[in-house]
Amino acid sequence: MPTTVRQQGDISLAPPVCAAVQRCINPACAAEYPTSDTLISCRTCGSLLDVRYTWPHAGRSFPRDWSWVRSVPGPYGHPDASGVWKFRALLPFFDDVSRIVSIAEGRTILQRADGLAAHLGFTPGSLHLQYEGQNPSGSFKDNGMTAAFTHARMVGAKVCACASTGNTSASMAAYALQTDIKAVIFIGDGKIAYGKLSQALDYGALTLQVAGDFDTCLARVRFIAEKVPQAGVYLMNSVNPFRLEGQKTVMLRVLEGLGWQVPDWVVVPGGNLGNCSAFGKAFMELRELGLIDRVPRLAVINAHGARTLDRVYNELGCRWSAGNYFTDGTKQRVDAEYARMDAAGERASTIASAIEINRPVNLPKALRALEVMNGAGCSSFDPSGGVVRSVDDETIRHYKALVGRFGYGCEPASGASLAGAHILLNEGVIKPGQTVACVLTGHILKDPDVTVAYHTGLDAKSGKQPLPQGRPPGVYANPPVKVKDDLGDILRAMGVDTSTIDLASIGAVASAGKDY
Ligand code: F0G
Repeated sequence: MPTTVRQQGDISLAPPVCAAVQRCINPACAAEYPTSDTLISCRTCGSLLDVRYTWPHAGRSFPRDWSWVRSVPGPYGHPDASGVWKFRALLPFFDDVSRIVSIAEGRTILQRADGLAAHLGFTPGSLHLQYEGQNPSGSFKDNGMTAAFTHARMVGAKVCACASTGNTSASMAAYALQTDIKAVIFIGDGKIAYGKLSQALDYGALTLQVAGDFDTCLARVRFIAEKVPQAGVYLMNSVNPFRLEGQKTVMLRVLEGLGWQVPDWVVVPGGNLGNCSAFGKAFMELRELGLIDRVPRLAVINAHGARTLDRVYNELGCRWSAGNYFTDGTKQRVDAEYARMDAAGERASTIASAIEINRPVNLPKALRALEVMNGAGCSSFDPSGGVVRSVDDETIRHYKALVGRFGYGCEPASGASLAGAHILLNEGVIKPGQTVACVLTGHILKDPDVTVAYHTGLDAKSGKQPLPQGRPPGVYANPPVKVKDDLGDILRAMGVDTSTIDLASIGAVASAGKDY
C-alpha cells in the first residue's frame, strides 16, 4: 500500500539562495566544480557529475501540505506554467528565474489505469501510468531539456548538440528555437522513428545522419564537445547533469498524483539510463530533505536486444555499493564487458528504437538508483535493491498495443515498462495490492510505423504495399477492413444486419446525386 510522505517544508522560492555545485559521483574523488562550468565529466577522474545543493532550509519546520510548491512569476509567466519549474525549489541551480527556458513542459499527470489493472490481474486501484508522452514535444525529454537549456543560457552556450535515438533530438530542437542557440543533431543511419525525425527536421535543426548507431553517435558528439573546443558544443545528452535535474520532477508529479504518498514500485524503460538515474537522485534528495521517509522500489526494463544493464546487474552482479563501484573492481568488470561486446561486434538491436543502446552512459548512476530505490519503508522493500528485466520485441509490441487498447497510447519503448510490470507481477516480485507507477515515456505518434505494422502486417517504411493476406498475428491487431464502395457491403462490414433493409431503394437515394 502507498505510504504517507512526512510533514513537509517551508522552502523559500524566491531566487535561489541555495549553493549549487557540480560534484563527481565517485565518492573517492568527489571533486567539485562551479555551476558556471560546462563539463561532461569530472576533470579529475572522468566519472559522471551530479548537481548537488546545500539546502537552505535544512532543519526548518515543514508544513504538511507541500505548500512550498507554488509559483513565482517569471518574465512571460512560463515558469508558472511548467510542471518542472513548479518544483524549482528542488532544482535550484539557476541564477535567475528570467533565464528559465520553458515551453510549459511537464504538465503530465498520473493516470489510474483500472481497466488495464483488471485486464492484467493487478489489484484494482494499484496500477498507475505516468504519461510523459503528453509533453510538448511528445516525450519525457522535455523535463530535462528545459533544465539543460536554462543552464546553457546561464553559461552563454551558442551551439548545442546531442546524439539521439529520436526523442532527445526532437526535444532539443524545439527548445533551441526558444533561444539563440544553434541545434546540431547526430542520429544513427536508419535508427530513428519518423515521427521523431520529422520533428527535428521541421524545427530546423542541423541533422547529421552518421553511418553507425546511437552508441557511435554519442561517442562522436561527446568527443567533439570535450576535445574540440573550437566547435563550442554544449552537450545535451543525459551525461549533462543539469538535464537530469529536470527529469527528477517526473517523480515529484508521481508523488503529487498519489496525494504525496510514495508508491511501492516505479517501473521505467532503460536506454541510456538517464531517467532512472534522475529518479534515484530525486528520492535520495527527498529523503535527505526529510520530505519522505520511504522510497519506492525501482524496476528498470531493457529491450532484449539492448540489455547491457540487465546483464551487468543480473549476470555479472555489478552493484553501486555506496560508490565502491569505482574502487572494488566493479567498474573494471563493466569495462571488461564492454571490451567483450566490442570484440564480439555486439550492437544493440530492437524494435524499440528509443532504447536501442548498448553503452548506457549513465550506468553507474543507474546502479546507484537501483541501490537507493530498494523500497525501504514500503511493502516492496528488498535490501538487495531494485530489479532489472529485459523484454523481447514481440512482448514490447504486445504491451504497447495493450496500452493503446486501454486508451493511453505510447511508443514501443514505453510499452516495455508495462510489460516489465506485468512480468514482475507474474513472477510474484510485485505483490497484489502494491502501488505501481509505470512511466510511459513517449507518445504513440512518435513511431507510427511500428503501430501500423502491428495492426496491418504492413511495413510502412517500405512504401505503398497492398495489405497482406490474412490477419496479423498480434493479439490486439486491429487491421483496417477492406470494403467495396457499396452501401450493403459497408453496412455489413459495420456489423449491421441488412436483411431487413431495402438496400435497393435507399441505395437509389444515395446515388441520386444528393450531397451526403
Ligand atoms: N523511452 C523513450 C521514449 C526514450 O526516447 C528513451 C531514450 C528512453 C525511454 C530511455 O530513457 O535513456 O533515460 O534510459 N531516448 C534517448 C533519445 C536515448 O535519444 O531520445 P533513458
